[in-house]
Amino acid sequence: MKLALINIKQLVTVASQRRRVKTGADMREIGMVENAAVLVEESVITWVGNMEQLSMSSLNEADVVDCTNNVVMPGFVDSHTHLVFAGSREEEFAMRSGGATYQQIAERGGGIINTVRNVRAASKKELMKKARRWLSAMLRHGTTVAEIKSGYGLDMDNEVKMLEAIVELAKEEMTTIVPTFLGAHAVPPEYKENKSGYVRLIIERMLPYIAPRKLAEFCDVFCERGYFDLQDTEEILTFAKQSGLALKVHAEELTPLGGAQLAAQLNAVSVDHLEHITDNGIQALADSQTVATLLPGVSFFLNHQYAPARALIEGGVPVAIATDFNPGSCMSYSMPLMMTIACTHMKMTPEEAITASTLNAAAALSRSQEYGSIEVGKKADMILLNIPNYKFLAYHFGENHVDRVIKHGVVLEF
Ligand code: NIG
Ligand code: FE
Repeated sequence: MKLALINIKQLVTVASQRRRVKTGADMREIGMVENAAVLVEESVITWVGNMEQLSMSSLNEADVVDCTNNVVMPGFVDSHTHLVFAGSREEEFAMRSGGATYQQIAERGGGIINTVRNVRAASKKELMKKARRWLSAMLRHGTTVAEIKSGYGLDMDNEVKMLEAIVELAKEEMTTIVPTFLGAHAVPPEYKENKSGYVRLIIERMLPYIAPRKLAEFCDVFCERGYFDLQDTEEILTFAKQSGLALKVHAEELTPLGGAQLAAQLNAVSVDHLEHITDNGIQALADSQTVATLLPGVSFFLNHQYAPARALIEGGVPVAIATDFNPGSCMSYSMPLMMTIACTHMKMTPEEAITASTLNAAAALSRSQEYGSIEVGKKADMILLNIPNYKFLAYHFGENHVDRVIKHGVVLEF
């Protein structure tokens, strides 16, 4: 099966010449080619270049897509989501409008625990049905690779139910799905007075069941005051690493605890949130391989402070952006909306926002050798946008500009 995209008005390749991530000024290098073409065989990109260099014979037997009116770029990689959930939290949203904070709502038994009650009551089938609806909407908005976390079960059976749902979705859905175990998302009510008992349950029962069955590729911990402290986080992640899982951390979201330094020390693949990261945290990340994943939608939705994107980029830290899509802190799966917020509130340039949503986001999932740029040898995940130039994507917000999506070389019909 051959596919040819021709007459592309602007092709944004985000080419990295096999580099895993882009940092510093390189984040602005998005490899834009005008009047371009891309050839695909089966699911892989075989040629990228200018129309003038394209030999017409290479179009023989190919399905040809004319992209005269399109900007073409890599599919978005949403490297941080909690998209398997049940119920919704619009009442909490309304309470926040009335002045309540995310933390106050959590202290009153809302927040994560609110969704835990709904997930425990839902069957695996129900969770999958709802998640399928999100995944197909995300694909229509250009997301071709998504990470999905557990973390709303918080006991053995319900964490396993969530992970099995995620792994089954990965087998049957078009979207490339990466599963993450987040048993340490909150302390469940039955362990309220016995957090260390819950940490033991994660280490002694959950991880030994999940890791050998490959129900997750990553292990994540919400390292935060009132959730899991630095010591708990280190203990859980060290055991997870020994069990063969790669690491992620939710860190410095509400308070600066030093989770960024711990993530760097443990060689986590990514550390996410970072709204309250300190200068020492930035330095620790700059000296490590860990990707800083920023979640602009969370600061926007909770009206919290934004992560210091400029200081991170200028400090040489590879920055990714993701949605954090979940019913509490960001009820949006739109990567372009996250780009708009990153540009307006975090002062990232449109080019940096593109690199952060594609190549660097793929690196945050250890997938940047296959995804995140339009280069020969990479998987053919591309989106065709109905906009006059690439800057329009973050600029004209609130509209879905995705015209068509190509997933593993297949042009999807919506
Ligand atoms: O990444 N910070 C912790 N966890 C999620 C929120 C999940 C929820 O509120 O349900 C987050 O923001
Ligand atoms: Fe999250």
